[in-house]
Amino acid sequence: MADSPVSHHPAGSSAETGNAEASNEQRAQMEQAYQQMQRKMRIGKMEEQIKHKIMVLSGKGGVGKSTVATGLALSLAREGKKVGLMDIDITGPNVPKMLGLEDADLNVEEGQIHPAEGPAGVKVISMAFLLEDPDKPVIWRGPIKLGAIQQFIGDVAWGELDALIIDFPPGTGDEPLTVSQSLPGIDGVVIVTTPQEVALLDSRKSINFAKTISVPVLGVVENMSGYTIRGESEPNSKISIMGPGGVPIDCQSDNDGRWEVTLNVFKSGGGEESSRELEVPFLGSLPFDPGIVRGGDDGVHRIIAEPEGETAKAFKSIVEVIVEQLEKGSQRSLRII
Ligand SMILES: Nc1ncnc2c1ncn2[C@@H]1O[C@H](COP(=O)(O)OP(=O)(O)OP(=O)(O)O)[C@@H](O)[C@H]1O
Ligand SMILES: [Mg+2]
Repeated sequence: MADSPVSHHPAGSSAETGNAEASNEQRAQMEQAYQQMQRKMRIGKMEEQIKHKIMVLSGKGGVGKSTVATGLALSLAREGKKVGLMDIDITGPNVPKMLGLEDADLNVEEGQIHPAEGPAGVKVISMAFLLEDPDKPVIWRGPIKLGAIQQFIGDVAWGELDALIIDFPPGTGDEPLTVSQSLPGIDGVVIVTTPQEVALLDSRKSINFAKTISVPVLGVVENMSGYTIRGESEPNSKISIMGPGGVPIDCQSDNDGRWEVTLNVFKSGGGEESSRELEVPFLGSLPFDPGIVRGGDDGVHRIIAEPEGETAKAFKSIVEVIVEQLEKGSQRSLRII
């Protein structure tokens, strides 16, 4: 049966060992091809099962992509949407820690991985769940890494979702490219920046990158915008506090003696300015909030710890603008190329 990939030779005959070996190899190849086909079919199905797919990118590291990705997912879920969150950061996956899911057990059934369930019912999948030792660095060469991402996309049983948020490592490397090529129907990219010049410059690169991979830019989020401190003193009195760089900042308390001052730790408004310049929507800004750092360490996101707080409100308004963009996108006005 030279033309069949499956051998029908009886096993055990020494004269046939060579053929049996070849057939084992062929069987493995067939098995692989079958899995690949199933994966492709599942990925194809994701187009209809998942209404919106959003990638979260930034040119520069540490600007708050994972914080924003988890915040968007939680904020959408709190509005009753079915949400998935996929952490594609293979070398430094930290979404599970941010959501208190470090010890989550994943269920694998019929070759499909079932995501962990996070706060507000968000379905979470992260490479961190698949690593044996979270403290061991992962060093994967390009093709293996890309293969793992493709498998990662095709082997997760998401079920029906309103939105899938995808968190990436910093930069415009292979990961977003591979995802954009493997996953059909990506709605767009949310670019996270801080208001510093360097971060803004890098976010321009992300916008151009999105254009080259023909994925629409949903807009820019300015993170770590301003840090507001509040206090109480005599009503209608003048308050002077020492701002960054030793520059005093004055303000006035109100009739009840309350006062507040916003310190622009990394300047402010740069995200809005650069999105105007680059003609992409501005989605809103998030305050600098030390509670975000604490929440990231404790595994209780700020939105969950303080659902009516300033940060949760800022996320809510960003989500509203994104939903508006998605609605426009479904009328195809958002396609760049
Ligand atoms: N608005 C904010 N206010 C205060 N701290 C913040 C804010 N956003 C993020 N952080 C903190 O900044 C650090 C980096 O955030 P995060 O991990 O979300 O960035 P990232 O862009 O995903 O980083 P990486 O590039 O390593 O993936 C974290 O310690 C996080 O808690
Ligand atoms: Mg991150």
